[in-house]
Amino acid sequence: MVPGATENAGSIFMLRRWPYGCCATPPARSCRRSNDLPAPLRPRLSAPRQQSPSTAPGSYEDIGNVEADILCRLGLRPGMSVVDLGCGSGRLSSALTKQLGGSIEYLGIDVVQDLLDYAAPRAAPNYRFVLNAELRFPAPEQSADFVTAFSVFTHLHAHETFAYLVDARRILRPGGTIVFSYLTLPQHWRMLVNDLRGRVRGTLPHLIAYLQPRTIRRWARELGMHFEDCHADMEHRVAVLKNI
Ligand SMILES: C[S@@+](CC[C@H](N)C(=O)[O-])C[C@H]1O[C@@H](n2cnc3c(N)ncnc32)[C@H](O)[C@@H]1O
Repeated sequence: MVPGATENAGSIFMLRRWPYGCCATPPARSCRRSNDLPAPLRPRLSAPRQQSPSTAPGSYEDIGNVEADILCRLGLRPGMSVVDLGCGSGRLSSALTKQLGGSIEYLGIDVVQDLLDYAAPRAAPNYRFVLNAELRFPAPEQSADFVTAFSVFTHLHAHETFAYLVDARRILRPGGTIVFSYLTLPQHWRMLVNDLRGRVRGTLPHLIAYLQPRTIRRWARELGMHFEDCHADMEHRVAVLKNI
């Protein structure tokens, strides 16, 4: 578990079959720090409840491997560069370290320093981790082959998500790819029902955001990109945006 993490009522979202049940427990210390952020950027989610590298379904390692496999299937190769928005405690970076070692460039970005501190020692030494509270990537133009956001836009307002996509387009190299997971209705109806229960009980610590594929398609058009759903082995849907 991330140092300072505590159990909290957010575990209502740790649905039994939800392999993405990671964000229910903000580390107490980080939360205090993140309260200094402007409201739209405060993390509405945070550290994995269970950070143990167990092999149980939905574990830190399993989910990291699924995320890394998606990128490899989409063409991630040695020499390429990945920018990982909301990298959290490093599920993706630790899986990429196992699969590709230091052969790629990796930049993990998060709004919670404790999570970055947890992720960094579990990643290849050349991987970089940066605290960032802007709706903008701390990366130069055309510097990334992949921009990822796994289980991040599921907790942001649509305008924030679109702002990140616009800026992701800026940092993408020609031929680059944006990959992000999302929840949609009615497919994730069960989560919506639990979300509503949490709101009624006052136990919901963060926003759960749903997107419709038609919204993403429209955004992709605005960005001059092509949108496809990627058939991933996870309960979230995974959107892939490629330069046209
Ligand atoms: C559910 S966790 C997912 C972590 C990681 N992507 C994974 O798949 O394990 C969401 C992460 O997004 C981070 N986050 C939330 N809002 C953010 C923002 N505006 N910019 C960067 N990170 C953010 C949270 O601190 C948290 O670490």
